[in-house]
Amino acid sequence: MEQLLQQIAAYKQEIEQTAQDGAEALEAYRIKFLGTKGIVKGLFTEMKNVDADKKKEFGQILNEFKQLAENKYDTWKQGLESGSTAAGSTLDVTLPGEPLPLGTRHPINLFLNHVISIFQRLGFSVAEGPEIEDDWHNFTALNLPEHHPARDMQDTFYIQQKPDYLLRTHTSNTQIRAMETNPLPIRIICPGRVYRNETVSARSHCFFHQIEGLYIDENVSFADLKQTLYFFVQEMYGKDIKVRFRPSYFPFTEPSAEMDIQCQICGGEGCAVCKRTGWLEILGCGMVHPKVLENCKIDSNKYTGFAFGMGIERPALLKYGINDIRLFSENDVRFLRQFTSAI
Ligand code: PHE
Repeated sequence: MEQLLQQIAAYKQEIEQTAQDGAEALEAYRIKFLGTKGIVKGLFTEMKNVDADKKKEFGQILNEFKQLAENKYDTWKQGLESGSTAAGSTLDVTLPGEPLPLGTRHPINLFLNHVISIFQRLGFSVAEGPEIEDDWHNFTALNLPEHHPARDMQDTFYIQQKPDYLLRTHTSNTQIRAMETNPLPIRIICPGRVYRNETVSARSHCFFHQIEGLYIDENVSFADLKQTLYFFVQEMYGKDIKVRFRPSYFPFTEPSAEMDIQCQICGGEGCAVCKRTGWLEILGCGMVHPKVLENCKIDSNKYTGFAFGMGIERPALLKYGINDIRLFSENDVRFLRQFTSAI
């Protein structure tokens, strides 16, 4: 009898611990405990071996055990019938789900990602750098020493508490950081937010986004630069796009150029957007100045490179037909929700 009681206790524990999951498991449970050759029946047949004076006590224990096994079966079955595996739950799994509100990507990111994917196909990889930068990486290393007049080309936000620190005015800082640390050759694009102390209006903002590119290796030439940019604009604006290069000046490149594309609004006829010239300026570029290479401890007799940089907001305005740059940073969801897919 002692042994039988121990067995019953073990079965009780097993029943309590059985997870109520699914009709198949329920049927297996029924056969095992409540079937004609099941455990409950088996225990009842043991009755005849129990001493006469213990029969009553054993009978009670056995009945309780049978009740437990049957109760478990009933609640499990009910749970399945009401559509849930959890006992007693009223959950109806056939009801349609509540939709979760889904966000959309910001139009600037959509545009940036598209530009990035074009350059990635040419083997460029993405590099990111800090928005709070020191004077060296934003200016001095880029051949813009203190008091250089070209510093005024970019109105800078300086950080008062930390002299020599500023909000980067371009993502060229990331190029310097890459040249200082990465092994050669280098082929990177640097997307990110930049800051300039400009009056906020429909056409310009005190922060905006840029993507700059850098390629350093032996024998890199201006022809490589042009072919890379041709590939970019053709992927971006179509094979028939007309392009022109104009000589320009940047302290960190020599020679320097600006690239224009035919106005996308008037097709080159001349309109308000292109100021009646038929052309839109989209980026600055040039061959990396030997002084910049030397500042980053790169041998300028052995290595050459090209760099380019463009703003993202202006072409994005054109692409999406938006007339106010401030919309990009006002976070009005009615505006943002309209941009759901890549370009
Ligand atoms: N850093 C320049 C700017 O912000 C763009 C540029 C990058 C020009 C690389 C030439 C070469 O205006």
